[in-house]
Amino acid sequence: GTLGAAGAGGLVVGAVSGAGIASAVSGESAPSAPALTTVGSTEVMFHGKHQAGITTPLQSRGHLIAFDLVPGAGRKEAAALLRRWSTTAGTLMEGKPANGADTDISLDAGPSSLTLTFGFGRTFFDRTGLTARRPAQLDPLPAFSSDVLDPKRSEGDLWVQIGADDALVAFHALRAVQKDAAGAARVRWQMNGFNRSAGATAKPMTARNLMGQVDGTNNPVPAQSSFDQRIFVPDGASGAQAWMAGGSYAVVRRIRMLLDDWEGLSRPEQEQVIGRRKSDGAPLSGGSETTPLDLNKLGADGKTVIPNNAHSRISAPAQNGGAAMLRRPFSYHDGIGADGTPDAGLLFIAWQADPLRGFVPVQRKLDRGDALSAFIRHETSGLFAAPGGPATGEYVGQRLLE
Ligand code: HEM
Repeated sequence: GTLGAAGAGGLVVGAVSGAGIASAVSGESAPSAPALTTVGSTEVMFHGKHQAGITTPLQSRGHLIAFDLVPGAGRKEAAALLRRWSTTAGTLMEGKPANGADTDISLDAGPSSLTLTFGFGRTFFDRTGLTARRPAQLDPLPAFSSDVLDPKRSEGDLWVQIGADDALVAFHALRAVQKDAAGAARVRWQMNGFNRSAGATAKPMTARNLMGQVDGTNNPVPAQSSFDQRIFVPDGASGAQAWMAGGSYAVVRRIRMLLDDWEGLSRPEQEQVIGRRKSDGAPLSGGSETTPLDLNKLGADGKTVIPNNAHSRISAPAQNGGAAMLRRPFSYHDGIGADGTPDAGLLFIAWQADPLRGFVPVQRKLDRGDALSAFIRHETSGLFAAPGGPATGEYVGQRLLE
């Protein structure tokens, strides 16, 4: 199945490319203690070629947090912080308490597929005197006509993505990350998201977003031969990118959904906007969820069955010179605004080896005529370089900071 399919409903067994997953259902726990459920006991490996939280199936809870180094903190302080964060991440992902005074928030729970993923923003390199090693891939994203960006909730020196299949386990990690940062970096922005709980559906299925669409169907999957090349920086990367081997670039956009407007459409109108059926995500050109889109199929009216401005047509790699990305979002809901509309939408996170061959060309095209544009608003933006996974004994980012 697709990454989305694996993440939405079912049990996680076996290894996913990059960050491995181990199930600790048997053994480990004391003989008298009842065994944890599969959801609780599933552990994602911290060490590996790639950081965890990229190809890991979607978790039901997510926290995003961005930091800026405090005035006076430079490369040395940043290295010490990444070392602390790495120790914390490795420990918590094993389901163990944090070093020092733990908050006990996740006491009783297993690792619950906890992942922590770390990234560096463009400004990090100036603050740490590492500008010569800043990859061109961190150049600012172009401005898009539909952007309504809040700079205070955008970008940042450092970024951490936390995901877990338990809300308390995820919050526990968020607190630990924030406490580790004390004295070195202060919070710039923080956002909370969610996906469907593991086990909520009868079988593993692709996730749905808050518009009710099946979302994630056509994601690249690790089994495809082009996957690594599209998503991860290659081993032989040279120059300013050498330290990014095995890493990936995250484009993070808080995309508000204008749900009252969206829900004002009839179901057939909604399906035309995406070019896929709502019930099962199948293309309007026919078949089931995973049937390829037939972009040329004509209806009785002589028009293409998948409209020319349908989101799934415009974003398809074939329409964008092969540009592709791994979308791994969380939904968010931050209450109801004064105007009565929900502050809800998608914490859109796209992973790719190079934003100029992933997010940028696709968003340029979407910006010019996506039927979905009338129902969404990009409110924040971030671009972060997430280095390769740490080898045993290494901390995340060591190849840049040592
Ligand atoms: C596909 C929803 C924003 C890129 C899809 C699909 C849905 C969807 C329902 C079809 C199922 C699938 O293949 O996953 C949304 C919503 C968005 C949003 C609700 C905003 C709230 C974006 C943005 C980008 C993007 C900002 C990138 C710039 C893609 C791509 C595909 C896709 C690449 C797969 C196309 C294909 O290969 O067939 N999206 N999307 N989407 N979307 Fe979005």
